[in-house]
Amino acid sequence: MKALKITQYGDIDSSLAFQEVNVPEPGAGEVLIKINAASINPIDLMVMRGEMKAVKKLNLPVGIGRDLSGEVVSVGNGVSQYQSGEEVFARVGEDHVGTLAQYLVVDASHLAKKPNNLTHEEAASIPLVGLTSYQALIQVAGLKKGEKVLIHAGSGGIGSMAIQLAKAYGAYVITTTSSANVEWVRKLGADQVIDYKKENYLELLSDIDVVYDTLGKQYTLDAFKVLKKGGRVVSIAGVVDPQTARELGINWLLRKLIGLKSLPILKLAKEKSAFYRMVIMQANGAQLNELGALYQDKIIHPVVDRIYPFEQSLAAFSYLNTKRAKGKVVISLANSG
Ligand SMILES: NC(=O)c1ccc[n+]([C@@H]2O[C@H](COP(=O)([O-])OP(=O)(O)OC[C@H]3O[C@@H](n4cnc5c(N)ncnc54)[C@H](OP(=O)(O)O)[C@@H]3O)[C@@H](O)[C@H]2O)c1
Repeated sequence: MKALKITQYGDIDSSLAFQEVNVPEPGAGEVLIKINAASINPIDLMVMRGEMKAVKKLNLPVGIGRDLSGEVVSVGNGVSQYQSGEEVFARVGEDHVGTLAQYLVVDASHLAKKPNNLTHEEAASIPLVGLTSYQALIQVAGLKKGEKVLIHAGSGGIGSMAIQLAKAYGAYVITTTSSANVEWVRKLGADQVIDYKKENYLELLSDIDVVYDTLGKQYTLDAFKVLKKGGRVVSIAGVVDPQTARELGINWLLRKLIGLKSLPILKLAKEKSAFYRMVIMQANGAQLNELGALYQDKIIHPVVDRIYPFEQSLAAFSYLNTKRAKGKVVISLANSG
């Protein structure tokens, strides 16, 4: 079978290559999937560039891609909930990364049943961004009906899903985007759209209950300027907080560095009696099944920007790398042989 691999750390053209490899066998608790579609995410590019080496050292070559939609081929010992031919989707665990491949073995607990009103390309666009926003906004921030949430970068893979999720939970959604995407994100359900090319959100907003920081750096620090006293900042692109570092089992030396780096943010949080957490999303089949129901019931819609055939995966990564995607970038393996 054909698989796209990271063969060395670097940029897209020098690091990624297609390889012929054997179809893997599912072990205990695992499922072999024939992949129909995959979607790509900024984390794939970060790993490819070697930016995650301090957290996890890899033995190259390794697979790339964390989102898939496909069909069950066979199951390993102890797996009774899935049968051959069943349509599933997943954000695979970090030990099974490599969804840009014709087949992949996946941990059964990370799989969910594909909503049957979605194509494989649509289903593959959901897991990573869906689980991230669910874990950040609902599980960690505890977003409630009627609360005001600021979602940065509403037109991105994360933002386009998060706007819909927050609306589904009854929140008042404010989002930022560039001029070209203002009407488009309004149609996704945002109540207030701030065109960051023309307006400064810091001058327009105050008393926000929850800031979903998808941009990091200065945006993380500035979140506290628009937050209400006692509000919550949940980041997916900012600085890891000590509690998240502990939960991730990061070694003590790295935890010390993280502790120092997070000090300015924790100081701002304390001044506002606010809550700050950095969320590193986790694969979770049970939560993905819950999210799947929101798509099945058409409460949330998948947002696919472009679909590339498998052989044009490098072009897909180049497009993602522009950071201008409107929704998700998907790879179709339907005609890959
Ligand atoms: N911690 C985690 O577990 C986790 C999980 C998933 C993602 N992430 C991180 O979350 C971030 C977003 O991911 P993504 O998949 O949404 O990326 P993406 O799809 O590549 O984001 C592209 C979007 O960002 C918007 N954008 C860029 N700069 C902006 C700005 N200054 N203000 C408002 N919008 C801006 C662009 O809109 P315009 O063209 O209109 O500017 C574009 O639509 C990435 O840093 C990613 O690494 C973290």
